[in-house]
Amino acid sequence: MAAIPTPTAALARRALGAMIEGRDVLSGLRVFHAALGDIFRIPLPGFDPIMVAGPEANRLVLTGLRNDLLWRSEGDPVTELLRHGVLVEDGDSHDALRRSMNPALHRRMLEGYLTTMLGVTDSALAGWSEGECNALDAMRAIALRILTATLFRVDIAPDLARLWKSVIKSIEYISPGPWLVVPGLPRPGYARARKTLDDYLFGLIAARRRAAAPGDDLLGLLMDAGMNDDLIRDQLLTLLIAGHDTSTALLAWALHLLARHPDVQDRLWAEIDGAVGNAPPSFEALARLPLLDHVVDETLRLYPPIHLGQRRAARAIDFQGYEIPAGRRVLYSIFLTHRDPTHWPDPHAFRPERFGEPGPRVPYTFVPFGGGARNCIGAAFAQVEVKAVLVRILQRFVLQAAGPLPRLRMAATLEPAHGARVQIRPRKA
Ligand code: HEM
Repeated sequence: MAAIPTPTAALARRALGAMIEGRDVLSGLRVFHAALGDIFRIPLPGFDPIMVAGPEANRLVLTGLRNDLLWRSEGDPVTELLRHGVLVEDGDSHDALRRSMNPALHRRMLEGYLTTMLGVTDSALAGWSEGECNALDAMRAIALRILTATLFRVDIAPDLARLWKSVIKSIEYISPGPWLVVPGLPRPGYARARKTLDDYLFGLIAARRRAAAPGDDLLGLLMDAGMNDDLIRDQLLTLLIAGHDTSTALLAWALHLLARHPDVQDRLWAEIDGAVGNAPPSFEALARLPLLDHVVDETLRLYPPIHLGQRRAARAIDFQGYEIPAGRRVLYSIFLTHRDPTHWPDPHAFRPERFGEPGPRVPYTFVPFGGGARNCIGAAFAQVEVKAVLVRILQRFVLQAAGPLPRLRMAATLEPAHGARVQIRPRKA
């Protein structure tokens, strides 16, 4: 079998130059991808993963070799934080957890959630006035409230100020950083953050145990499934983090892109004004906004919040003629797939209309929600949420670019470094 392509010293220097110039790691990965193709090593001391990209590799990771490429890595910060959450479990245990949660995230529940999503958004927007806003922070506040109000049936608003720092600290804990190459590096503040979130979640669980009936929301379903409090905590924390940080990043990038593309904003206003007017959109109306769909998809393509998925080889694998040794970490890059000029002409341009062009798309070239048995459980939820929030913002505000172009920051999600700065101004009636 062929050896996995490895960057030469000269290529590594070129990638480093791109990283310094672009001030982000992804610029360096693009250099490797362009030179080495859809599979290559990233040989760092103590961390030597294999990166794969492109439709065939995505298909193998997500479906064909699903049982050979497992998620869980003991000792990883994400496993340590989420313990036995569905995101970090494999095999039967993963599938059983997923089955218990599926009904709360099924499409038929979304119509009911939409009312809550709109209520949360409206209450947040009531506090907006003309000026510059940090879109990332503003969207995080909305996304956290939506997630908890729908799936846990609790209003997190009164606790938000107290929990905010712990949420951010926990996200930082699972983000890439120097601890990848220097295991055991101290992570100050994390233990306290985790305790604060645990106390909050165990408090919700205890309150629900005291209630007359478990309820039909996600928390109630987990109780009905007979899980103990520890296992329920793991699922709640998984959803709290995975279910808000992603929508937060997507919404922030969408606001950033719209602020920099007034022509697209104009066309979206025409679409929304024509189909919905000023009223809160119904579930059916949200489904009749094709340009908005294309804007969301194009934002997901350019800035996929989960820009890579990680796996570990359970055994030695033949991967497209390359041997991946047992135990090796494999990363499938959604970002590199979405920016590949072979599949996406003019890949770095924001062109929402590309999603309206006729003709089939090559399968596995657009994978913002992963795929296969462990695709995103919240994909449909997120799409309704993001469209509802964007419609309410665009019905009331004009967005304009403010500040320099944000750098891409590889945190737990791909987010605009320092938040996307956007100037907002109320729309004239
Ligand atoms: C724009 C929003 C979102 C994006 C782009 C996104 C993306 C993804 C991706 C790519 C995966 C698969 C990762 C892999 O293959 O390793 C995933 C898994 C997951 N997502 Fe999302 N997600 C979003 C929103 C949500 C929401 C709203 C929820 C919960 C309500 C959620 C919960 C999860 C969970 C629990 C998993 C693990 C599923 C499993 O392993 O079976 N996500 N997400």
